[in-house]
Amino acid sequence: MLPNDFTILAVETSCDETAAAVVRGGREIVSNVVATQLDEHRRYGGIVPEVASRQHILALEPVIRQALAALPGGWGDIHAVAATYGPGLAGALLTGLNTAKAMAWMRELPFVGVNHIEAHIYANWLVPEGRGTRDEGREAEHSATLAPQPASLNLPDFPLVALVVSGGHTMLVLLEGHGAYRLLGQTRDDAAGEAFDKAARIMGLGFPGGPAIQQAAAGAPGGVTLPRAWLRDSYDFSFSGLKTAVLHQVQERQNRETRVVPRTSERKATQTERRSPPNAGIPSAGSHVPDRFIAQLAFAFQESVVDVLTTKAVDAARAHGATAILVAGGVAANTRLRAELERRSPVPVRVPPISLCTDNAAMIAAAAFYRFADGRQDGWELDVRPNLKLAY
Ligand code: KG4
Ligand code: ZN
Repeated sequence: MLPNDFTILAVETSCDETAAAVVRGGREIVSNVVATQLDEHRRYGGIVPEVASRQHILALEPVIRQALAALPGGWGDIHAVAATYGPGLAGALLTGLNTAKAMAWMRELPFVGVNHIEAHIYANWLVPEGRGTRDEGREAEHSATLAPQPASLNLPDFPLVALVVSGGHTMLVLLEGHGAYRLLGQTRDDAAGEAFDKAARIMGLGFPGGPAIQQAAAGAPGGVTLPRAWLRDSYDFSFSGLKTAVLHQVQERQNRETRVVPRTSERKATQTERRSPPNAGIPSAGSHVPDRFIAQLAFAFQESVVDVLTTKAVDAARAHGATAILVAGGVAANTRLRAELERRSPVPVRVPPISLCTDNAAMIAAAAFYRFADGRQDGWELDVRPNLKLAY
């Protein structure tokens, strides 16, 4: 058992966010600093690995300094150091892992490497900022007169089913205990977040695609239906067919419009032309107000992804007697997914607050706490593992 005040400094650089955090007792967030590189990558419509590594090198020092500034004793209050070592972009991972190892070596502190996907799941163990664990006891004393405590303040009980939906991964995992994971199913092609990003690009909605599609879909029900890949008798997922269906819809619309536009050189803009977004179907780095057709397509796309994710997660929770469904990864920020899981799940659904769903280092510290508690530690020879798996 580790003391409740065991304090970890964690670093995360697996993709396009440079993050450092200080977490006490595996749950209490002392500081959580994230420097996003989104603006650097937006103009390319996706993440450029070399740009990511360079930005991490620039941002690491100030981000770590800011995370430590929240501690009165600074380094003196830190008991251990952790960093993501995979999966992710090799160059990006190297910057954070090497920085963290060097700091731990210099300060003679224990060090552990963390699996990024596992950390996304452990975001569910964190107490959201503003709801300190210190108040738990006091609230419990008055629980008869207070509203029930949010599920996020209680520790989840095993077994649990985790739905991991990020830009790089989509999987259903059975958690039987800390570090005891079984892979129930995973995507056979695109990850859910990747599908959102690619579909948004096809629809000309900009990057990153998840928030753009969610926004476009708001208030645009019905009108278009898209397929669902059920892959029956399996917890696997497939989203590439859906992406192709979106592409076909956009192309058909473009063909329809080309047919109705008169071919004279001095033609005036038709109603159809005026309603079209300037870049529908063309990869776009900017965002604009979508027209009705694109909004309907975005709505249908989101419904299709949410339906399949929810159905499989709920089936898995029932089949394995899970006490709760944990949702993790950037796509967990999707409000439609949250609502549908809550509506259909027979057990509580735990979703971290949005700031802890997307990449951050507090989740790395949370996962590291249970590794240290298990007596695990890594040596200075630990290298990055861009294709690190969570479970088989
Ligand atoms: O976990 P994450 O921050 O990075 C990875 O480790 O991949 O996830 C990023 C992904 C992106 O693909 C983004 O489009 C998606 O999460 N995302 C969303 C939403 N917010 C972010 N997808 C759907 N709806 C959202 N609101
Ligand atoms: Zn992530």
